[in-house]
Amino acid sequence: MARYQSVGITGANGVVGRVLMKGLAGEYQLKAFTRRPVDFPSTLVNFEQASEVRGAFAGLEAVIHLAADPSPAAPWESVREHNLEGIYQVCEECVRSGVKRLIFASTNHTQHGNTIRTTPETLDPRKRLHMRLSDPPNPDSLYAVSKLFGENIGKLYSQQQGLEFIGLRIGWIVEANTPLVMRGTPAEDYLRAMFLSHRDCVAAHRCALEVDTRYLLAYVVSDNDRRVFDLEETRRALGFAPQDDAETYFTEVP
Ligand SMILES: NC(=O)c1ccc[n+]([C@@H]2O[C@H](COP(=O)([O-])OP(=O)(O)OC[C@H]3O[C@@H](n4cnc5c(N)ncnc54)[C@H](O)[C@@H]3O)[C@@H](O)[C@H]2O)c1
Repeated sequence: MARYQSVGITGANGVVGRVLMKGLAGEYQLKAFTRRPVDFPSTLVNFEQASEVRGAFAGLEAVIHLAADPSPAAPWESVREHNLEGIYQVCEECVRSGVKRLIFASTNHTQHGNTIRTTPETLDPRKRLHMRLSDPPNPDSLYAVSKLFGENIGKLYSQQQGLEFIGLRIGWIVEANTPLVMRGTPAEDYLRAMFLSHRDCVAAHRCALEVDTRYLLAYVVSDNDRRVFDLEETRRALGFAPQDDAETYFTEVP
């Protein structure tokens, strides 16, 4: 028996949203939220509009909040509107509607300032770090700063409003479900470190729906040989045991 049955997913038609809608469908009653009409049933909500958000989560026990501008290059106006205003409105609506748990799509970019070479999606091989969740944040973009805001507003609402909050620092999930899409590009090393397979993504969100916690941060990357994040605390606290490794995709190529 699932801890929470009725689960809302915002940004349900995005890359992550489609993976979760498919992967979690058999276990939970999912309610999709999208900004525009899509090819599956969904409720239309602009999450930066307080009037549209009000009442949207009635009857839900948990919400997975994915809706955001996901680009590390996002300009301030977009970050402010979709990411900052969005997570604030979502937290408020969770409290109003009695949602018990909010799962927030945070990012690896909150700590990527240590590892970049030139742009946010390159990795400096001379700086291979083994980063932990307890290491200080080191955002590489306004996008990353907005995700740190999300993690912290979640902390506030978990302490003051009793909302259970889980922030997932997601690596890099691609529609094609293979790290080979960046082969030979400047982003290849980065994707080999941050790759998140679709099944590991679903498994991590399932853990986030089921774990017993009030507030938790975790890394959500596959078990990549080249990962820069230490998964020990995530394995212990979230119970997430990733199955895939980006390197196997490269060794299987003729
Ligand atoms: N894809 C990744 O590798 C990755 C990595 C780390 C974190 N994330 C985070 O995961 C989440 C989903 O990422 P994605 O790759 O699926 O992005 P995506 O752009 O494919 O999907 C995001 C969806 O959110 C919707 N949206 C954006 N702003 C909205 C608003 N104000 N109101 C309503 N809907 C809105 C968009 O229409 C879009 O469908 C994002 O929060 C992103 O920051 C993604």
